[in-house]
Amino acid sequence: MNIKRIAVIGAGVMGASIAAQVSNAGLPVILLDIVPEGASNRNQIAETAIKKLLKAEPAPLMAKRNAGLIQPGNIEDHLEWLAEVDWVIEAIVEKPAIKQALYQKLNEVCPDQTVISSNTSTLSLARLTEKMPDHFSRRFMISHFFNPPRYMRLMELVTSPQTDSALIRAVQQCADRQLGKAVVLCNDTPGFIANRIGIYLGQCAMLEAIDGGLTVEEADALIGPSIGIPKSGVFGLFDLVGLDLLPHVVASLQQALPADDPFHQVESIPEIMKKMVAEGYTGRKGKGGFYRLNRLDGERIKESIDLKTGDYRRSEKPQLAVLKAVKKEGIQALLSSDDRYGGYVWSVLSKTLCYAASLVPEIADDIATVDQAMRHGFNWQYGPFELLDQIGVAWFVERLKEQGRESPALLKSGQPLYKTTSGSHFFRDASGQFYLLSQVDGVVQLADFKQQQSALLSNPSVSLWDIGDGVACLEFTSKMNMLDEQSLLGVEQAIELVQQQYDALVIYNDGENFSVGANLTLLVAAIHQQDWSTVERLVKTGQQSYQALKYAPFPVVAAPAGLALGGGCEILLHCDAIQAHAELYTGLVEVGVGLVPGWGGCKEYLARQLNNRKRPGGPIPPIAKAFETIGTARVSKSASDARGLLFLRATDGITMNRDRLLSDAKAKALTLVADYTPPEPNKYPLPGRTAKILMVMSSRAFRLLGKATDYDMTVAKQLATVLSGGACDSSQPLSEAEMLNLEREAFLQLVQQPGTLARIEHTLKTGKPLRN
Ligand code: NAI
Repeated sequence: MNIKRIAVIGAGVMGASIAAQVSNAGLPVILLDIVPEGASNRNQIAETAIKKLLKAEPAPLMAKRNAGLIQPGNIEDHLEWLAEVDWVIEAIVEKPAIKQALYQKLNEVCPDQTVISSNTSTLSLARLTEKMPDHFSRRFMISHFFNPPRYMRLMELVTSPQTDSALIRAVQQCADRQLGKAVVLCNDTPGFIANRIGIYLGQCAMLEAIDGGLTVEEADALIGPSIGIPKSGVFGLFDLVGLDLLPHVVASLQQALPADDPFHQVESIPEIMKKMVAEGYTGRKGKGGFYRLNRLDGERIKESIDLKTGDYRRSEKPQLAVLKAVKKEGIQALLSSDDRYGGYVWSVLSKTLCYAASLVPEIADDIATVDQAMRHGFNWQYGPFELLDQIGVAWFVERLKEQGRESPALLKSGQPLYKTTSGSHFFRDASGQFYLLSQVDGVVQLADFKQQQSALLSNPSVSLWDIGDGVACLEFTSKMNMLDEQSLLGVEQAIELVQQQYDALVIYNDGENFSVGANLTLLVAAIHQQDWSTVERLVKTGQQSYQALKYAPFPVVAAPAGLALGGGCEILLHCDAIQAHAELYTGLVEVGVGLVPGWGGCKEYLARQLNNRKRPGGPIPPIAKAFETIGTARVSKSASDARGLLFLRATDGITMNRDRLLSDAKAKALTLVADYTPPEPNKYPLPGRTAKILMVMSSRAFRLLGKATDYDMTVAKQLATVLSGGACDSSQPLSEAEMLNLEREAFLQLVQQPGTLARIEHTLKTGKPLRN
């Protein structure tokens, strides 16, 4: 069975944003809620929810047009619509009786093969299905999405022995491939996996920080990146989730867990938190939380709550020597530090890790499942058992022993929890038996290949790997995957090697960001020395490498995820095809640093606009569109948005599940291998000066409105020169080489201006653009 049509019931926080994610997958979705009392518009709740989706931040919709795929309705008039859907996701109020009353109705209208699932975070499947007929249990499951569903990768899936296995597979497939989720099978236990462990850690860290007299900044720095937890830490996470929600989840765990569960030792809600919630300090959505942004004498400042007095004070970055030690000596150094900070982390972490170890196989069949849930549900870099291996299980057990504490059965042997043999990964259980960590077909990381081979070529900025079936993979390896001379050299060497030994090339890395663009440090040094020949060489080398990539005698597929900016976007524009992760933020942002795209970005992007058959009316509208996109440093808000901006072509692919990106890109490359011929060079029929005048006039209007600065005008003029074809003869189309010359000339003009140097230096220092 293939799920193609989905309905979501309940258009609140979760329901509306789950519907948005379904629409992000390009699937139509029905969104129903109750009819509000006395409302003239019976669909009011769902309709209002869709309107809110368009404005919400972070955006639940990958493109605003996706809202058009969501059909609003209500459960009184439109239940019969559900006869046509494959999967109904219930996301209504957390009240078992109301949910069950709804299920009775759904059970009547939905055909037998329709899956019905609940998004409950606290109710058990057993409780939700009690009093329901047996044949209902056959199609029922819990599909627990995390908030916000577009960005949080985890979906916990709870089923029962009665649930039809074909339906389970259908939901797994749909959630994984279409909705991009990491689907984790959990047992039907309170809080499932991620909340059970995550809330334990949060409560424990909060209560011990208060008891130990730590500040919120100190606690968040300690229970933070040094142990693989996001930098929001614990208090920051509570602010994000909402302080009012936490007591409900804690209360439900408190009621549901047996009296001897260690959770009861951390279940109290501190007075300060109760007071904050009562006064509307519910976190980011309220007046503020443990942190808030405030204005003091016209300055925007970040404040933190004093955990003793409840008053806000200016936030301070804690100077914790113990965290510096972690960088050099690893997590053990932090855990064994005998100051109160080390003591705090050891106490919170050792309790949490012991708790997690005591819960397998109660909450999930194995430790790998728990690790996966914590990575995707709470964005931990390592799950609890991966972290234990980092710390060293034997060392951990020894420490517990020294303190007279009992080790959980799983850890007692002191043996590592994972091992890798001949490239295959294994995890163990409490008896010490190892099991193969089975990989889902199509889910693969570059790291999996790297473990089994040495690089085909490698320098400090790139490596080339064999990813099988005649395909090689070029990986950027510099800091933030910045592109420099080594990267360009690597591209050229890779082309040579692939040409001799492989059929296709994929450009991909496992990192969060594909590439943040060119490394500007070298450029700044050359500008300071007025070494214009070095600048010219840098630009020319990039142009040559990217041209070589474009005309290589084999297909090249780029597989970007996250940021692909400036030079990173330009490389995409030169590939035969793109297989992008749905979360792609790409754009030609060079004007932000006072430059124009100089590695063929103007040339390729202009060609995209000129060849866009949808737009009639001669060359001016496409040139103006290119001018607008590049001139405003427009960055896509998703891959789907990038397609609207023409950074992606209609034929380029989008992968929803990040873990499938490499595999999809390789498959795409292989489809291009047979009868591959490199593209025909573009021709540019450009009007020259007349187009330039129009573009400069349009930026002048922006200047008059105060939306552009004087220096924006200088940069805009150079960009207009390139995109209009400069002083060309309008009867003769320009070649790619001529376009590259124009880019280079404009670039060289701009680097000699103090305004550009100021912009680059400011960006290098602050990471932000300078509006000079
Ligand atoms: P919410 O209060 O924002 O929305 C609930 C919606 O259900 C409201 O629009 C309400 O009008 C509607 N509703 C109530 N009774 C209904 C009925 N009989 N038929 C149709 N609609 C009905 O709640 P929220 O936060 O979206 O939670 C929904 C579910 O998702 C709950 O089960 C909750 O436990 C779960 N959940 C919530 C998370 C969160 O962060 N808020 C995270 C994960 C799961």
